[in-house]
Amino acid sequence: LCRQHNLPLKGIHFHLGSQFRDPAPLGPAILSSLDLAVELGFEADWRLSPGGGWGVAYHEDELPQPDLEGYIRFIAGTVVSGCRQRGLPLPRLQLEPGRSLVARAGVAVYRLGALKRSAGRTWALLDGGLADNPRPALYGAHYSALLVSRPTAANEEPVCLAGPYCESGDVLALELPLPEVAAGELIAVPVSGAYQLSMAGNYNGACRPAVLWLSDGQARLIQRRETPEDLLRRDRPLE
Ligand SMILES: Cc1ncc(COP(=O)(O)O)c(C=O)c1O
Repeated sequence: LCRQHNLPLKGIHFHLGSQFRDPAPLGPAILSSLDLAVELGFEADWRLSPGGGWGVAYHEDELPQPDLEGYIRFIAGTVVSGCRQRGLPLPRLQLEPGRSLVARAGVAVYRLGALKRSAGRTWALLDGGLADNPRPALYGAHYSALLVSRPTAANEEPVCLAGPYCESGDVLALELPLPEVAAGELIAVPVSGAYQLSMAGNYNGACRPAVLWLSDGQARLIQRRETPEDLLRRDRPLE
């Protein structure tokens, strides 16, 4: 198609999906790409972008963290040996580690408003949920949580974490073992640095939370909390 339409063809990209913890499935796709590169007659300065975002553990059940170095070594090794076997010049390699770059840098902090026991479950009702993190509702993303004031306290009972948005899907975690919790406590949800605020919305008139940058024991406000005025900013009165 590129040749037919006189477009420059500089390289090959593929995307096999997200949350890889084992790079092996990328191997056959890389080799197919190299075969295609030979067929296309790529010479020096071609690009290969083997996609498949590298995974992160969101929950203790998913530990250890996928090994980023192993992912890089596997891709680089497969490309180098595959190119040698085919007499193909090495491409410029463009990796797509995706969320693994930033997901663990973010921690979402919620305040527990009330506890409710219903149908054999304990519900912890938080001041955020679906509007700031739609991932559990969208595709069943699996999170863990811990208490800010007592992160190492022993777990007592499974608790369901829910938000205030009047939707049955407004549940951040189901039956998560937690220490005894009380209204007013802060609850931290780790691994909130990717696909969270970027997916956040204003559903139910929710205001997006503030964002703090933490380093060297200092906290700096890098995004202020939204206000109702922000929600109305684009509205224009009818005549
Ligand atoms: C082409 C491409 N590369 C990389 C990524 C990043 O992957 P991840 O979502 O696993 O962080 C995506 C995201 O879907 C993507 O579409």
